[in-house]
Amino acid sequence: MGAVLVTGGAGYIGSHTCLALLQAGYEVVVVDNLSNAKRESLRRVEALAGRALAAFHVADIRDRNALGAVFGAHEVAAVVHFAGLKAVGESVQNPGLYYDNNVCGTVALLDVMEASGVRAIVFSSSATVYGDPARVPIGEEAPLAPTNPYGRTKQFIEAILADQAAADRRWRAVCLRYFNPVGAHESGRIGEDPAGVPNNLMPYVAQVAVGRLPELQVFGGDYPTPDGTGVRDYIHVMDLAEGHVRALERLDALPGLTTVNLGTGRGYSVLEMISAFERASGRPVPHRVVERRPGDVAACWADPQRAAELLGWRAERGLETMCEDAWRWQSANPAGYGEDEEG
Ligand code: NAD
Ligand code: WQD
Repeated sequence: MGAVLVTGGAGYIGSHTCLALLQAGYEVVVVDNLSNAKRESLRRVEALAGRALAAFHVADIRDRNALGAVFGAHEVAAVVHFAGLKAVGESVQNPGLYYDNNVCGTVALLDVMEASGVRAIVFSSSATVYGDPARVPIGEEAPLAPTNPYGRTKQFIEAILADQAAADRRWRAVCLRYFNPVGAHESGRIGEDPAGVPNNLMPYVAQVAVGRLPELQVFGGDYPTPDGTGVRDYIHVMDLAEGHVRALERLDALPGLTTVNLGTGRGYSVLEMISAFERASGRPVPHRVVERRPGDVAACWADPQRAAELLGWRAERGLETMCEDAWRWQSANPAGYGEDEEG
């Protein structure tokens, strides 16, 4: 079998998935423009795997010439496509950037794949495509109603993949809708390293616990949930990584387009997450309830049944492991990966 090309492989979920792929014996080629990642993540992935990547190309997926050269240099069997921008607030401020990077980038990737005769892709979609769900747990057939440009880029890319798969039955595409990825590899050597102040709950909590930030703001204490704070389906990033390996293994048996939720099927509130993190870290997480964050939903968790049926995959790591692994990464790397010497 040829190599797996991983776009965005230096990023948070990509780096953990590269490790899982190397450990499963795949040849792995990475393309990343390093817009939101450091080279150091992949150095550590190789050290943990005890194996090298087949190649790492610093390139932008919108650059068809650069992508063409990558496909020309390797025999690629399938693509795992993580590359994209993901900050909801930034997408509201600068939608053109998001449509260009995420949607046009994917169109360029699909073009070059078709020209190279590579017609198998696993795509990083998001539970954000469901918007404010009418009911939980959320099944894959729930209506799509994203509430921001970032979420719409995911919805549009899914539609493009559906059209491509309908037009040419040689194409196989799996859209994985992730719920809330958290945690880190159990070694604590790789993890999430957000640039600037984190937007997401868990990296924020971790930075408060380590003393890098003074206090967490809990966005809303009056939601119709058991303790009034928002409820989400947090999923360990290594479970997510293994979900990609399963999707690749099953790709031959999944013609056309397949859409699958990757979540645990259970939700935790913000206050439950804080308590679990305090227990795992042995550190206090000072926090204060403030106004709701605009655009947030009360509760969101997955129906994970289809992933079990089609991929033979279930999340295995619980909340305690998520927090312990996140803390191991944060406490051993309080400044993340630091600065790459090459910039
Ligand atoms: P990340 O920012 O850590 O990883 C994305 C990677 O893509 C980065 O390494 C970045 O440098 C690279 N990249 C961005 N634009 C590129 C381009 N034009 N060309 C080449 N490389 C480019 O984010 P992540 O959390 O690892 O997310 C990976 C994917 O999963 C994204 O598509 C994201 O939208 C999706 N997703 C993430 C979450 C989450 O909460 N983390 C949830 C659902 C879906
Ligand atoms: C979780 C809970 C907040 C920060 C986002 C994107 C989504 C997906 C995953 C990519 C909510 C609360 C948060 C804080 C808080 N990404 N919170 N204080 O909003 O579920 O999803 O990331 O696809 O598209 O929207 O995740 O981690 O930001 O928030 O109280 O400082 O924590 O209100 O209830 P969210 P999150």
